[in-house]
Parts: sequence; C-alpha cells; structure tokens
Amino acid sequence: MSPILEKISLKSYNTFGVEAYARWFSDINDKDDLVALFKNPYNQKKKILVLGGGSNMLFTNDYDGLVLHINIKGISHRIIDNDVFITAGAGENWNLLVKYCVEHEFAGMENLSLIPGSVGASPVQNIGAYGVELMDIFHSCRAIEIATGEMLQYNNSDCRFSYRDSIFKNELKNKIIITEVTFKLSKNFQPKIQYGAIQVELNKRGILNPSIRDVSEIVSHIRVSKLPDPATIGNAGSFFKNPIIEVEKFRRLKSAFPDIIHYVVDSENIKLAAGWLIEECGWKGKRVGDTGTWKDQALVLVNHGNASGNEIYNLSADIINSVQERFGLVLEREVNII
Ligand code: EPU
Repeated sequence: MSPILEKISLKSYNTFGVEAYARWFSDINDKDDLVALFKNPYNQKKKILVLGGGSNMLFTNDYDGLVLHINIKGISHRIIDNDVFITAGAGENWNLLVKYCVEHEFAGMENLSLIPGSVGASPVQNIGAYGVELMDIFHSCRAIEIATGEMLQYNNSDCRFSYRDSIFKNELKNKIIITEVTFKLSKNFQPKIQYGAIQVELNKRGILNPSIRDVSEIVSHIRVSKLPDPATIGNAGSFFKNPIIEVEKFRRLKSAFPDIIHYVVDSENIKLAAGWLIEECGWKGKRVGDTGTWKDQALVLVNHGNASGNEIYNLSADIINSVQERFGLVLEREVNII
C-alpha cells in the first residue's frame, strides 16, 4: 500500500491548476489498498476526498482531510454476440479508454472523445457531449463502501442518472469510492451525428458514411477548436450546467429575448444554453486579473496563470448575479467546489 503523505500540494492534481494543500494524501493503485486503508478505524474517521483527474473541481481552500488519488488501472473486454462489455479501472484516463474502444471498433463512446478526467469520475457527473451521455453506455460499476470496507455493485438503474447528475453526487456522496466501471458497447455501429457541429464537419470533409474513427476525430476536432486544453490553460470544462426550465417560463423569456438558444427536453421542459446567457451579459472572453471566461466558450472559466481558487469562485458568483439580473435565472455550478 502507498504511504499516507502529509501536506501535499494539489496544484498538479487539478486541471484549474490552483494551489491548495491536502493535510494527508495517498495514491491508491489497487482496490486492496482501499480495503487495507479502511480497516484502520483511524482512517475511517478522516474526512475523505476522492480525486480522479481533478478535471471537475475547484479548490477554494486547503483540504483538511485525506485526499485519495485513484490510480487503479486495467482495461479488459468480453464480447457476447454483438455486445461488448468493457471494464476499466477507475484511475484509467477517460480518453485513453475511448481510444482503446475506437481502435477495437467498439461503438458507443466515440462522441465522448477527448473529455478530460478519469473513468471513475465519469458516472459521478454523468459526463456527456455531442448527443451522448455516459448513462447511454454505462452497464455497472464496483465500489467500496467507506464505512464497512465492503465491495458493492451498482447497475445502471441504481445510479439515478440525469443531466450531469447521479446518485454518486447525492445520497452516496462521500460514502463510496468507485474502483472500476463496466460499459456496454456494441460491435454494430450506429453513428449519432445529429448534433449540428458534427454535421457541418462531416459535410466539410465530404463523409457520407462515417466510421467510428471519423466520429471520434470530428468530435476531437470540434472540442479542440472551442475548448481550452487544460494542459496549457487551467480550466474544468463547463463551469455551470445548462439550466432546464418550464415551457411557460421559457415562453416569457423568448418574447423578451427572441434569439435565446434553447433545446426541447420534453413536452414540459426546455434546456437553455448557459454559454449564450453568459455571453449576452458581456462576459465572453473577459479577463479579471488572472481569471476569466474562455474567448470561444463563455461557459468555461479559465486560469490564465496564477489565479487562486477564490478568485475563480468570485468570478463565477459575479456571473451568476449578472445572469440572474438580466434573465431572472440562477445558474447552477457544475464544477465541485472544495
Ligand atoms: N454559445 C454561445 N456563446 C458561448 C457558448 C455557447 O452563444 O459563449 C451557444 C453556441 O453557439 C451553441 C450553444 O450555445 O449554439 C451550445 O454551445 P455548445 O455546443 O458549445 O455546448 P454547451 O451547451 O455550451 C454542452 C456541455 C459540454 C459539451 C457540449 C457539446 C454542459 C454544461 N456542457 O456545452 O460539456 O462538450 O455541450 O455537447 O452540458 C463539460 O461538461 O465540461 C462540457 C464541456
């Protein structure tokens, strides 16, 4: 088992690249490390923070507890008829898993190419992009219960997935640690290319019948062109959720703001593009000290260099206030504030 270290900088463990210190820190390379760790009642009592790729977190304080950096690796698959069950350790890099599937021609994950983060974090916020959500391909996951050290399994319906949400963000928050995830993919490829930007790129490239690799490449291309690379400029992807509002409220907004970008969720609900709302309030590409919003996507807050977690948080609060004043809507943060 890896040792428990004290007073460790988390700067290189969060994609915002902000400074914060963990009181204790340990690398978890195997689920047995967790079992051993939680056998010790002293550790069971510690406040625990599970860290994967650190791509959906904003540290506004030092962490006065034990940070567990999940590094559990391994990818395997089994094929049953046309179904492919692929199991990956929680510490695998998400995009490396997508690449593995694209190379093996396993269909289902290609629209989720290039999302930063780890496999273990993917069900927590039900990651999604370009018309696909994790819940569409999630089969099950295994996790350890902190209070008992017992291994548990959660199937898709146990996880109560919805837009950027799951049971792991709610009832099970701080109670379990995901150790591996199994996805159900397919050998039959049915491209999901209804998303406008994918269509535009397919037309540009003259592709009529895209392969799994084509879709993966196009999604990667779109992401690179719009979103900042956390390796060069600190960010955590979309900082806020796209608000979902009732049709009645939407009608009122639409008459005041005819250009408002929206998507029909169902007969009662409409999803709005938070990036558009923020841009309308004049925040797109704006810089405040070392923080700001991204020039090509106002929904993404960035660290231009030495911003602190609190500066980024304060910017997000100012954005929430502007959007509330102008549209009467309260944006909800998608990123976890620690
Ligand atoms: N828009 C603006 N101004 C902006 C940003 C966007 O007008 O500054 C408009 C765009 O022109 C477009 C619409 O808003 O018409 C939606 O924008 P985009 O396609 O970029 O998607 P999004 O709704 O802003 C969501 C996800 C992203 C995901 C993309 C693509 C959330 C919170 N974000 O963004 O996920 O990559 O769709 O599917 O749902 C993430 O979660 O970190 C993330 C990047």
